[in-house]
Amino acid sequence: MLSALIYLSIYTHLNLKKKDINFGIYYIYNIYIYIYIYVCDNKRTELVFVSGCDSGFGHDLAKFLDSAGMRVFAGVLDELHPGALKLKKDASPNLTVLQLDITNSSQITQAHQYIQSQTGKTGLWALVNNAGVLGYVCDGEILPIKMYKKCLDVNFIGSVEITQAFLPLIRQSKGRLISISIPLPGFAGYGASKAALISFNGAIRQELSRWGVKVIIIQPGAFKTIKYDFILSTIIHFPDILGSREQWNSAQEDILSGLAQEVMASYGEEYIRSMQQRLVNMSSVSSSDTGPFLEALKHAILSPRPKPFYYPGASAWALPLLYRHSPTSLSDRIFSRIFMSSDAQPAELLNS
Ligand SMILES: *[C@@H]1O[C@H](CO)[C@@H](O)[C@H](O)[C@H]1NC(C)=O
Ligand SMILES: *[C@@H]1O[C@H](CO)[C@@H](O)[C@H](O)[C@H]1NC(C)=O
Ligand SMILES: *[C@@H]1O[C@H](CO)[C@@H](O)[C@H](O)[C@H]1NC(C)=O
Repeated sequence: MLSALIYLSIYTHLNLKKKDINFGIYYIYNIYIYIYIYVCDNKRTELVFVSGCDSGFGHDLAKFLDSAGMRVFAGVLDELHPGALKLKKDASPNLTVLQLDITNSSQITQAHQYIQSQTGKTGLWALVNNAGVLGYVCDGEILPIKMYKKCLDVNFIGSVEITQAFLPLIRQSKGRLISISIPLPGFAGYGASKAALISFNGAIRQELSRWGVKVIIIQPGAFKTIKYDFILSTIIHFPDILGSREQWNSAQEDILSGLAQEVMASYGEEYIRSMQQRLVNMSSVSSSDTGPFLEALKHAILSPRPKPFYYPGASAWALPLLYRHSPTSLSDRIFSRIFMSSDAQPAELLNS
């Protein structure tokens, strides 16, 4: 890596932009990756616990870590879910599927007891807090309080409880705690719960460094391009955080039946119903490559020097950077172009 960086800086300074030089840098970087994977391949017995493996992304993640030779414990919301059964069937015998609703304390205790009995003195190498829910996609003003509570309950309290339960095992191995947070402005409940989780991780990162435990956050983003595709790819890559069609329907009914008359007049039924259509459209688009995300996760688990933050995907780093360092008036304008569709407008704005 270092040599690649040195090369890069030298050639940038000399302002040489020939194709073969770029190719050379690429080559050196690849050799580095090969050495890195080779070194890591010689010590592949890490015990890793991943939550939320029923379907979609967590499911792929568990399989990926299994095929990379790790001993995987895969927590699932429902042991009898077809995805959970399929995972059991497809993976190697080294992967264990565990019933785990992260909002249920007794299930956390059970999973912990089982894993403790399997890890012996070596402890657990990594906990990947993957389970999460998106709630529902609509304006923060009209998102039901119930949804905020659900997001906080699962994404924040659930993750904290599981972290507390497993930290003694992770301390034993001087291992890693990895959390996944997708920066999604516009999803008020989800965003608030993930912001809480990031603050929690920030505090314990410093506290746990005394024990040699690393605390890591992965913020994946668009794997294709920025703009509309950003949310799109999130939904494609993380479909399990969306929940089922029935859950969307019931969320929509909660909003329609729960809004004060005055607020209903401002937003209008058509606008509220268009939210769900947008979700349906998004989730029906075909998928693209999750490679960058999986590689970041592998690096976070295996590298001797993992980074505290990873931003896999072409533009994932750009959004937090933009958010933090550009004037609010500018970033607001950019974000609303990206995240708010111009064809769907609240009733009051349409008529004004
Ligand atoms: C299971 O793990 C053991 C030890 O970690 C390893 O030797 C074996 O090859 C693994 N089996 C599979 C099917 O990956
Ligand atoms: C929590 O999990 C236990 C054990 O699986 C189950 O018996 C209980 O009903 C669950 N509680 C809730 C509130 O879902
Ligand atoms: C969803 O897709 C349908 C059919 O392709 C299209 O007519 C509609 O405008 C889309 N709706 C939204 C909100 O994007």
